[in-house]
Amino acid sequence: MFSKVLESLIELTGYTPQDAQTLSETYPITSQWADEFAKAFYDVLFAYPPTAAVFRPGERPAREQTLKDWYLRVARGDIDEKFWLWQWRVGLIHIPRRVPNDYMLGMMSRVQQLFLQKCMAAWEPEQATRVFLAFKRVTDVVAGLIAEGYMRGHQLAMKELLGFRQELLDRLMEMEVDTLVERLMNLSVKSSLLN
Ligand code: HEM
Repeated sequence: MFSKVLESLIELTGYTPQDAQTLSETYPITSQWADEFAKAFYDVLFAYPPTAAVFRPGERPAREQTLKDWYLRVARGDIDEKFWLWQWRVGLIHIPRRVPNDYMLGMMSRVQQLFLQKCMAAWEPEQATRVFLAFKRVTDVVAGLIAEGYMRGHQLAMKELLGFRQELLDRLMEMEVDTLVERLMNLSVKSSLLN
């Protein structure tokens, strides 16, 4: 499951080991941005009540450290099978802490935007683009792995809890989704009549 998802993400984003190499070459500069990334990340999360509510009292320093370690690992270009597997696990770890993928994807966008700004300030446009795109491809694969790890972890746990066979669960799921889509269509017809 993990390997197939990783393979598709690598193929479709266009990530190659050259990206890890590019990142490792610029590490002496990008590593200096780690504290700023950790602070900016948690300033956004603590300023928005729904995401602030995820955290326990006094947890911020530990979380900032985790984010800093993660950022430095990416910036170092230390990207191997173990790193990818860790990203899949982050998706699972986010489940009991109620960190859905809209929160995660919103923050990945912030991380990428800040990285782009920092690159533009540090290098000429050509080099800035090269470093940014390497970072973007790695972090897009990361976002895909966290999202899929989260979703498939959820499904697997549900299947185990309910004791369903996979095929039965898939069939029931399809029937339920058909109903949901129909309900949504009716809703959009109604709301277009109201406008
Ligand atoms: C760019 C997006 C994100 C990345 C790359 C990321 C990465 C990580 C990593 C590496 C860990 C540590 C996993 C481990 O222990 O091995 C973690 C844990 C955690 N993350 Fe995220 N995360 C992201 C978004 C978020 C958001 C948006 C929230 C909250 C709104 C959040 C809340 C947490 C919490 C509470 C934990 C601690 C889980 C625990 O140990 O109990 N994360 N995350």
